Amino acid sequence: MCSEMVSCAGIEHGNERTLGYLRVAADEHPLAIQLFGSEPKAMANAARMVEAVGADLVDLNFGCPVKKVTRTGAGAHLLEDGDLACRLVSAVAAAVDLPVTVKLRRGVHNGSTACLELGPRLVDAGAASLTLHPRSAEQMYTGTADHELTAELVALVDVPVVASGDVTSFARAQDVLASTGAAAVMVGRGAQGNPWALQEIVDGEAVGPSREEVVAELVLFVREAVRELGERRASGFLKKFYGWYLGGGRFPKPFKQELLQLDATEEVERRLLAAAPGAVELVERLEAEVPTGDEVTLELPISVYGGG
Ligand SMILES: Cc1cc2nc3c(=O)[nH]c(=O)nc-3n(C[C@H](O)[C@H](O)[C@H](O)COP(=O)(O)O)c2cc1C
Repeated sequence: MCSEMVSCAGIEHGNERTLGYLRVAADEHPLAIQLFGSEPKAMANAARMVEAVGADLVDLNFGCPVKKVTRTGAGAHLLEDGDLACRLVSAVAAAVDLPVTVKLRRGVHNGSTACLELGPRLVDAGAASLTLHPRSAEQMYTGTADHELTAELVALVDVPVVASGDVTSFARAQDVLASTGAAAVMVGRGAQGNPWALQEIVDGEAVGPSREEVVAELVLFVREAVRELGERRASGFLKKFYGWYLGGGRFPKPFKQELLQLDATEEVERRLLAAAPGAVELVERLEAEVPTGDEVTLELPISVYGGG
C-alpha cells in the first residue's frame, strides 16, 4: 500500500495537516509513504520522519502533473530536471536505511520518453525500484497508458519496475506483466470505491460484493474518515466516495443523489443501513476483525492526530 503524496515543505514547516499524513495505523503494513518536494535537504529530513513513523519504504513522487506542484520544481517537473531528480534520490538514500523508490510518468510532454533516459540515472543515484505510469504529465489521465514504454524501461534497469496505469482486471494485470516483464502492477482508479477489485486482480476470481458488503465497507469507511478528519471535513471528503462505492449498477442513482444532499454522516450511515439492513451485523463483524495494535505516533502536538 502506498500513501498519497505528502509535502516535504509541509513537513518542514510543521503544517499540522501534513504531519497528520504521517500517522501510521498498526494494520497498514507493508506501507510506502510518498514524498514530494524539490529541495534535497528538506526531502532528506522528511524521509527521516517517514522512517521514524515506521513506514517500510519511502517513495518519491516525480510524476504529479498538477501545476501547483510542478511550478515549485516538484512532481513531473523533475522529469525534465534530471540533475535535481538524482540529487533528491541520493540525498534521501543517504538519509535513511529504508529502500528508496521513485514513481514517475513517461515525461512532461505528449510522446516524451524522458523516463527512459532518467530511469537508469535514478537507479545509479540509489533508487531501489521504479514505478512507471506511462502517460505524459500533459495527458493527465486521458488516453491510455503506453506500457510498451514500461517494457523498454524494464530492459534498461536491473531493479524491479512496477507498472501503473489502466490495470483494472486480472486479465489486464496478466497481460501487462507478461508484455512488460514488470515485477508488479499498481492499481489506482480501478480500486476507487471498489476494494473487491484487488482480490479479483490478484486471484482472478470475479466475485462481486453483495449489497450488504458494499454498505458495510462504506459505513466502516465513513466512520474511519470521521475519526481521522473530524465530522466537518469528513462530510465533504466522503461525497465522491458515495458514487464510487454505490455506482456501477449497485444502487439506484436517486439513492446516491439523496446521500449527496446530506451533511451529517450519521444520517448517511442511517440511510445506508436502511437500504441494506443485513449490513448491520456485517459492520459489527468487520469492526471486530480490525487488528488492534499500537499506532506509531511521533512526538507531535496531540491536535495533529485529531484531524480537525
Ligand atoms: C485521485 C488520484 C490521486 C492520485 N494521487 C497520486 C499520488 O498521490 N501519488 C502518485 O504517485 N500517483 C497518484 N495518482 C496516480 C496513480 O497512482 C496512477 O499512477 C494513475 O492513476 C494511473 O493508474 P490507474 O489507471 O490504475 O488509475 C493518483 C491518481 C488519482 C486518480
